[in-house]
Amino acid sequence: MVEQVTKSMSESNATKAKVEVRNLNFYYGATRVLKNINLMLSEKRVTALIGPSGCGKTTLLRCFNRMHDLYPGNRYEGDIILEPDSINILSRRVDPIEVRMRVSMVFQKPNPFPKSIYENVAYGLRVRNESKRSIIDEKVEQALRGAALWDEVKDRLNDRAYNLSGGQQQRLCIARALATDPELILFDEPTSAIDPIATMTIEELIEQLKQQIAILIVTHSMQQAARVSDFTAFMYLGEIIEFNDTKTIFTNPSHKQTEDYVRGKFG
Ligand SMILES: Nc1ncnc2c1ncn2[C@@H]1O[C@H](COP(=O)(O)OP(=O)(O)OP(=O)(O)O)[C@@H](O)[C@H]1O
Ligand SMILES: [Mg+2]
Repeated sequence: MVEQVTKSMSESNATKAKVEVRNLNFYYGATRVLKNINLMLSEKRVTALIGPSGCGKTTLLRCFNRMHDLYPGNRYEGDIILEPDSINILSRRVDPIEVRMRVSMVFQKPNPFPKSIYENVAYGLRVRNESKRSIIDEKVEQALRGAALWDEVKDRLNDRAYNLSGGQQQRLCIARALATDPELILFDEPTSAIDPIATMTIEELIEQLKQQIAILIVTHSMQQAARVSDFTAFMYLGEIIEFNDTKTIFTNPSHKQTEDYVRGKFG
């Protein structure tokens, strides 16, 4: 099913693959939490990942930038191919730090570092050994503009990031994610800890970001998935049950479980 949709999506040439997940399994120790995942993320499109709590959404997101490497006992099987150079993100030969420059992540709760606004955004550039002040200045401004935060902070770049409001902190985290020019951004319930106005700002931002890059967003809000995404994957108990364009998932799903979930019958 997933293969079929993926095939017809690329055949119709409407979208271009940015990432292809092939037969991905993931284990926390002996427990298999992701089961034979196949999924395609398109360039310049938003893909939403939905499903009940505990089904493995965050676990799947964290595979895309090798976050699970940080804990011993975690194990991946299968491939996540990043285009256009077709590197396998999960390959031992691929440096996870390099992957995290190309695939960045924004978490559920804003998590700025205990540093200035400026240094939060400059962080990834410093990891990348960029030391030229003029280049860092330019990138920081560009990223803050990209995150729709520049006008609010341009006169206080040396203030502590903790002094910003929650919604501003989340946009700062988006700016930090943007600074390394990523090709894919992973959002894990990015608006669940902020108010409706800040949520709207971030949804508009996602709309703009997708002009350039691929986006994968986990959300518990069906309305949000319907508003921001082009494609939706429904996950249940570690499997992708159904993947299709968002409209089809919400109006004419093929599986009963998908239908029950999008109608709010469980989860
Ligand atoms: N570090 C870990 N070690 C062991 N098991 C874990 C770990 N993190 C998550 N799990 C388990 O893996 C499964 C999937 O968890 P995950 O956090 O990916 O779910 P989720 O879909 O993101 O849920 P939610 O919507 O509540 O955020 C759950 O059963 C969870 O208990
Ligand atoms: Mg989660």
